This record gives sequence, structure tokens and C-alpha cells, in this order.
Amino acid sequence: MNLKIIKGHIIYTKEKTQFEVCKDSFIVVNNKKIVGVYKKLPDKYIDVPIIDYGDSIIIPSFIDLHIHAPQYMQMGVGLDLELIDWLNKYTFRSEEKFSDIDYAREVYPHFVKALYDNGTLRSCIFATIHNDSTYVLIEELRKRGLSAYVGKVNMNQNAPDKLIQSTECSIKETREFIESNSFSELIKPIITPRFVPSCSSELLKKLGEISCKYNIPVQTHLSENKKEVEWVKSLFPKNPNYSDVYREYNLYGREKTLMAHSIYLSEAEIEMAKQDNIFLVHCPNSNMNLTSGIMPLTNFLDKGIKVGLGSDVGAGHKIGMQHTITSAIQCSKINHIINENERSLSESEAFYLATKINGSFFGKVGSFEKDYYFDALVINSGDKLINNLTPLEQLQRFLYCGDASNIIDRYLEGQLL
Ligand code: GUN
Ligand code: FE
Repeated sequence: MNLKIIKGHIIYTKEKTQFEVCKDSFIVVNNKKIVGVYKKLPDKYIDVPIIDYGDSIIIPSFIDLHIHAPQYMQMGVGLDLELIDWLNKYTFRSEEKFSDIDYAREVYPHFVKALYDNGTLRSCIFATIHNDSTYVLIEELRKRGLSAYVGKVNMNQNAPDKLIQSTECSIKETREFIESNSFSELIKPIITPRFVPSCSSELLKKLGEISCKYNIPVQTHLSENKKEVEWVKSLFPKNPNYSDVYREYNLYGREKTLMAHSIYLSEAEIEMAKQDNIFLVHCPNSNMNLTSGIMPLTNFLDKGIKVGLGSDVGAGHKIGMQHTITSAIQCSKINHIINENERSLSESEAFYLATKINGSFFGKVGSFEKDYYFDALVINSGDKLINNLTPLEQLQRFLYCGDASNIIDRYLEGQLL
């Protein structure tokens, strides 16, 4: 036994319908995992030292299911464009720079520090096509003690020459990447075709084979923008829909799959997402910035589809997941005004998506129930007036008005980072 006891106002969401709020309570942690949350500490733990955080709130740490590391310097820039122009005018240019490993050494430490500072202790990251720069990213994550799935991006068409590889090269480097010794229990590879227009059918097919052979999950983009959907239709006229292209090549549904955006899904695609139990990843800030559209989030949730949340930095402009949580709520309220038959998202539900649903991609992560990994953020505004609010009000205040400076401690798998 390697016991630790943490005390404060403990808040988490076991169910999406309500917050569990435990004022002045104790979390008992054994090694990496939670033993229990107690209002009164059981006698058997009386001799274990207590880390007392006083008025602070303690919440599950954040998980981001969709973020682009090389776009960190691009956050907030060029957001008046829509997806395809934004990719061509800004994004591909910023990603090309990572052919230079020294540029990666300059930028990636800042990106990883921003994840750490903002309490995003686990994430699913798109890097670029460049393996050497991606190893720099992985090393920075390791140094900070963060957990992630990291993808070398695959592209062999419809981008500037500097950002595409031949099919053979893209596959060879994907194999080298997943077989490299950069990975660990905390940092794992993920197969990352950028999106259908960036990949020929041959490349998609080979990536699907690698994903099956090595049992590695997949992340990509799906149905984000109407013009993109039309483009995919023209590239793959024989497939009935966008999702079916991924499914045909074994990049959909097996093991674990993350489909970012998923705004314009047909009824058949919605049924497919449910059947195959994939994660759709809602990225509200990105969708508003690039005028992409509004995902019918609550309709998806009410149909039993699994939806997580992503910042989609740099089309999203904020790393802190509290901003994605509140934007998801605001976006759903606007959607409810426009479409009365779609309800808005509650606060507890949005928090549940960002913690327990997002966490489920990593295993028993994102809640304070027994046997979950103890991944947590300790939040204190340092302001007496705010600390006099109820614990739930303190959380609401942090979600809507807080920033990284309010996070005073971070725990991942029981370890203080
Ligand atoms: N679709 C293809 N690539 C990208 C990207 O980098 N960001 C977003 N938001 N959508 C994409
Ligand atoms: Fe994205």
C-alpha cells in the first residue's frame, strides 16, 4: 500500500445529470488509483498524512480529444476564413516549418507547457508529417509527465509539395514511428490520416492495415464543413457517405476511433457511429471560428452516441478545456434557439463529456469513483470572496472566468506533477 490522502471540496460527475459535490472531504489514493471519497475519514486511515488544500476545489484533470500541436503559434490567426482556405493560406504553411527540427525544438516546449499550465494532462494530438519533429514533441510531453496519444500525420495529396509524401514514404515512416522507442505507458501512437482529401485510397488502405496489425487507434476529421463534404463526395463517388470511406479502409470503428467535428452526418452515418461506438469529437470554438456549423450535440447524446470534446487548437483559439466546456454549452443554447427540438447542454453534462467521456479513451480516467486513476486539478482563485462561494459556484466561476493561474496543483496517476 502506498496511501495518500487529499482534502478539499471535491467535485466530479459520475452521471451526466448532476455534479457530485463533496464539501470538505477526503480522497484516499493508493498508488495510482482512487480507493474512495469520504466526508468522514475512516479510522483505518487515521495515521496516513493528509495533504490539505483548504478552500480549494479538486476536480478530475482535463483531457483534450482533438488538438494540433504544430498549430500552437497559429492560434487566433486567420480565423476569418473557412476551412479549406484556412488550411491553404495559413495552416499548411505553419506545418511546413516543422521540417526543421530546430523549429520544433523552439515551439513544442511552449505548446506542452501550455497543456501543463492549463491542466490538460492527457490529450490526443496531431503532429505533422515529420517524424523527427514529432519525437521532439513526445520528449517534451515525457519531460512534463503528461499522457497523450500522438499521431504522425499522413498526407499524400492536395497540399503543398513540402507537406506531402509519397504513399511508400508515408507508410514507411508511419511504421518507423510506431515501432520507435519513444513510446511508454503514458504516451502512445495513434494512426492519423489528416482527412480524406489528404489521402489517396491506397494510403488509406495501408493505414487501415497498420492500425489492424498493431491494434492502434485512429484519429481524423469527419464532415466538418459543407464544401469539404462535397469534395469528399467528388473524390469517392462510389461510397455512400464520408464515414463509409474510412470504414471501407478499416479506419473506422475497430479498437478506438476519434472522428473530429462530425457536423453534417446523414441518418446512415449517425446509425454507423452508434453501432460502431466511435467517439465523435465536438470542437465548438473551431466550428464557430471557421464558420463550419453547429453539431447537433444533444440530439446525438440522446440517441446514445458517444461524443467527447476537443479544443481543436489552432482552429480553436484556447488551450484550456474550460473554454471548450463553456463554448459547447453556449453553442448548444444558440442551437436550441434556432431549432427548438434540440435541447441545450447542461453544465454537468458538458463537464461530464470533458472529463468522464474524454477520459474513457484512456481507460478508467476522468472521474473520482473507486479504481479510477487519480488524475486531478486543485483549483484556488486566491481570492477570499470567490473562496466564500459554494464549491459548485467556485467551479462555475472557474469554468467561465478562470485561467491557468487558478490551477495550483496537478496530479496524474496519483503523482503530483
Ligand atoms: N481538416 C483537415 N485538416 C484540418 C485541420 O488542421 N484543422 C481542422 N479544424 N480541420 C481540418
Ligand atoms: Fe482538427
